[in-house]
Amino acid sequence: MKPLIRSISLSLMLASLCAHAAQTKPPASPHPVPAIQDTETPAQRDARMGWWRQARFGMFIHWGLYAVPAGNWHGKPIDGIGEWIMYNAKIPVAEYKKLAPQFDPVKFDAHAWVALAKAAGMKYIIITAKHHDGFAMFDSKANPFNIVDATPFKRDPLKELAAEAQKQGIKFGFYYSQDQDWTAPGGAAMVVDALHNGHWDKAQDGDFAEYLHTKAIPQLKELLSNYQPAAPSVIWFDTPTPEMTPQLASEIVTLLNQHPNLIWNNRLGGGYQGDTETPEQNVPAQGYPDRDWETCMTINDTWGYKSNDTNFKSSQELIRTLVDVASKGGNLLLNVGPDAHGVIPAAEAERLQTIGKWLDVNGESIYGTGPTPFPGEHGTFSRTEKTVGENKPKWIPAWDWRATARPGKIYIHLLTWPGKSFHLANATANIRKAYLLADPRHTPLKYTQKGHVLDVQLPARALDANDTVIVLETT
Ligand code: GLC
Repeated sequence: MKPLIRSISLSLMLASLCAHAAQTKPPASPHPVPAIQDTETPAQRDARMGWWRQARFGMFIHWGLYAVPAGNWHGKPIDGIGEWIMYNAKIPVAEYKKLAPQFDPVKFDAHAWVALAKAAGMKYIIITAKHHDGFAMFDSKANPFNIVDATPFKRDPLKELAAEAQKQGIKFGFYYSQDQDWTAPGGAAMVVDALHNGHWDKAQDGDFAEYLHTKAIPQLKELLSNYQPAAPSVIWFDTPTPEMTPQLASEIVTLLNQHPNLIWNNRLGGGYQGDTETPEQNVPAQGYPDRDWETCMTINDTWGYKSNDTNFKSSQELIRTLVDVASKGGNLLLNVGPDAHGVIPAAEAERLQTIGKWLDVNGESIYGTGPTPFPGEHGTFSRTEKTVGENKPKWIPAWDWRATARPGKIYIHLLTWPGKSFHLANATANIRKAYLLADPRHTPLKYTQKGHVLDVQLPARALDANDTVIVLETT
């Protein structure tokens, strides 16, 4: 074929290919690489998020080298959350790395940890694969600063946990600090305030893109590929920094797109919103009506283990937080911080067991439910206090009652016992039966409904001081 004719034929072919592509390309994405959230249909999204929305309750695990100092450095307690000790004490990289040979968590027991999550009624586990300190809690060929190569422990606890989670039938995912990495040259260090404003050791200097290409992205590939079919159902990113440009973030999204069932959060950076909002240490007043969302919360005040943090929330407060979150359509990701021996603190384990006992009886009013059908807020905004980590007035919840719902049923969670009856002025649904969920016989309760005004007669005392649930069956 003569060159001229060939080039005309080729350009005609290219033109027709472009025209065809123009008709089938996905809707315009605001990103350099469209993420699954940009391209999937609402039905595809509902299918992908299905198990997560049913789950309502998960276990967060912050476990790493920071459990060795446990909040103390050179004999002095260091303020702040335990997993930030390297940053808060400005520990030089070489000094921090000396912790690795001391880390030998021989009491670690994957079976026991997963069994505890199940006993608590948790339906998924998210564990720190690599936190901001850059230490990988898994067997990584991408970087030697990891639990197999750098410690006497030499085992991969994430592999053992993933296998146990699959065996015991709960979902499993990884937290990964994709931006901050305080021991890898080029890894970011967040500017928090005048005192905590980025790198503190020359060993941290380097190129961020280089760090992403040689450590973060290769390790994400390992986490996404090496634990199949046991994990991960979720990747939980954290603390995006300005270094994560849309272009760099899109390189991670290209990898995530290869795992179309994966759920990931709103903390990747680069303008990607991900699947879930992630309020931290607080329950937003009205939740996020048009987004999936998950409050993550500690049982004491630290994510990573600190020997001197014994400020544990009561089981009642934790149960009511779960109810509050579910009543607004969200999930609760409740954290445990195991110590350097591989043991979850007893005070945390005890609380999880108590929550699990409440869910054994009342789980129907949480798992797979939707938000309250009754508008109106239970609480007020503080005039003086701000929300932890956000410059917004703090929401002060009232612990009177909450509601969750599913087709045909409304669950009224009585947190403060109202006395002889429960009164509701805007009960628009037609109630055909009322009973207490904790009453094994579901004995019908007497009630009157005049228009939208409902009064349900109650026994003198609550069946469960944490939360007694009335079931209203509707037609
Ligand atoms: C904050 C902290 C981080 C912790 C995370 C949990 O981002 O920086 O240490 O892992 O909260 O949500």
